[in-house]
Amino acid sequence: MISGATAKRFPHCLSFFVDFTIMIALTEKDRPVAQRLLSFGACPRCVLRFCRVGLQASYRRPHKELLSELCEFLQSGRDENKLSCETENPPCKKIKLESTKEIEEQTLNGSHQLSHVDNNINAAVENYAAWLLVKEEIGKQDLVVEKEDLVQIKEAYKWIIHPLLLEELGVPADGKSLFEVCVVFAHPETDEDCCFLASACPGCFKPTKNKQALDMISEEDFHRNFGSPPSLPKTPCIAVDIQCTNGAIFVAGRYNKYSRTLPQTPWIIDGERKMESSVEELISEHLMATFKADSFNFSSSGREDVDVRTLGNGRPFAIELVNPRRVYLDAAEMKVLQQTINNSSDKIQVRDLQLVTREAIGHMKEGEEEKTKTYSALIWTEKAIRSEDIAFLDNMKELKLNQKTPLRVLHRRPLAVRIRVIHTMKSEYIDEHHFRLHLKTQAGTYIKEFVHGDFGRTKPNIGSLLGMTADILELDVESVDVDWPPALDN
Ligand SMILES: *[C@@H]1O[C@H](CO)[C@@H](O)[C@H](O)[C@H]1NC(C)=O
Ligand SMILES: *[C@@H]1O[C@H](CO)[C@@H](O)[C@H](O)[C@H]1NC(C)=O
Ligand SMILES: *[C@@H]1O[C@H](CO)[C@@H](O)[C@H](O)[C@H]1NC(C)=O
Ligand SMILES: *[C@@H]1O[C@H](CO)[C@@H](O)[C@H](O)[C@H]1NC(C)=O
Repeated sequence: MISGATAKRFPHCLSFFVDFTIMIALTEKDRPVAQRLLSFGACPRCVLRFCRVGLQASYRRPHKELLSELCEFLQSGRDENKLSCETENPPCKKIKLESTKEIEEQTLNGSHQLSHVDNNINAAVENYAAWLLVKEEIGKQDLVVEKEDLVQIKEAYKWIIHPLLLEELGVPADGKSLFEVCVVFAHPETDEDCCFLASACPGCFKPTKNKQALDMISEEDFHRNFGSPPSLPKTPCIAVDIQCTNGAIFVAGRYNKYSRTLPQTPWIIDGERKMESSVEELISEHLMATFKADSFNFSSSGREDVDVRTLGNGRPFAIELVNPRRVYLDAAEMKVLQQTINNSSDKIQVRDLQLVTREAIGHMKEGEEEKTKTYSALIWTEKAIRSEDIAFLDNMKELKLNQKTPLRVLHRRPLAVRIRVIHTMKSEYIDEHHFRLHLKTQAGTYIKEFVHGDFGRTKPNIGSLLGMTADILELDVESVDVDWPPALDN
């Protein structure tokens, strides 16, 4: 066995050593660190990690080969500094623990206080204990190395496993793929190792920006509570679960809503459903079935009331599909999906259904306030009217409204007075008490309130303009002028 005292002498002999840097990418200054780690049985890969070796291929070398090379490297010193690599505990077990624990996704349950803690903490305790030893060695050489400079266990694990995956599956593995494989490791033997932190350093588990529990305990407290060097595990860790997930995909399109009893999103009050279905559900159930996703998130360019239809080219919407098992449909398949949705209900239809990127969804939301919408409103008047009585509305252009937040939405919107613009109007006489009004407005204008006035909260309004009580019987959205998603030819 090699003692710390032996290592201490190394820095003086550096210049006499044979250069092994090419083979295992270690330099002379790494020698004491390597020796200290090997002496308590750390695995050769961890030696590379703590010596900040970034050469990925080194980590893939067989354990035995790596170890004997490390030994040669250590033994290449002058006689009195030669090191024996025969340790009582063969160090090979350590790699299994060290290289894999970091990617554990288990939640700690050693203590209730720990349940929200970074799930890597167990392996981190051993890692940290080793780091303190390394830091001591490095300090002797007057070098400054930060813990963050070390090769993380997770990184080393990836360097080893990625080429193996490529070999096995024939597909390259890289960190940017949307397909994520999560391997869950457990090591019951050391599960409790971090529990001392809860009592030794109660403050360690208060969530702090960019700081983990181990950054917060003092080195003295750590040493007092946790053995140094860390003891060698007797058992390797086991992979207990493999979880595969796909990054979310996004499907966009436009929908028409032909029903006056269909809300856009599920209408549930106090856990009780008020309406049978919703636009969101009628569309997403088919997307969920096709893409076999775990869940979805529906968004749209504005929304219409339950009793308002959306006609014309429809309203842009996008649906995020979380962890889909299927990630792609070609144009023909997408059309079949669209047809399936169209066939499934007479309350809604969709068009321009397509895969889009997460970023593109921003186009749907941006400049929403500036966009225009056109509506068609069926209006009732208290007094009898003639065609001539309403014709003047057609000549009004860019009519400015002061709209106080409508009474019917006050429970969810702040009280404010907003200025909205009716760009154009076109009236269509029906009978003495009814006419239809086509309006082109700034997005966000409350049309119902513009017609009946909302007890004077919207000024001017159709009632005040006509000098009589008016009310709205039906409203349809004729177009939502957002040029996203791109129209597809059918
Ligand atoms: C965590 O520990 C508590 C108390 O020992 C126990 O009641 C609970 O079931 C445990 N939870 C898990 C997920 O093991
Ligand atoms: C759902 O989508 C909206 C809008 O794109 C976004 O703001 C929100 O964070 C998403 N929610 C989830 C749970 O992904
Ligand atoms: C679905 O219905 C919409 C609206 O009527 C129509 O534009 C679209 O072409 C239909 N799609 C298919 C595939 O039938
Ligand atoms: C949709 O309905 C039409 C007419 O009934 C039918 O020809 C077509 O096969 C259906 N398509 C799908 C995908 O359900």
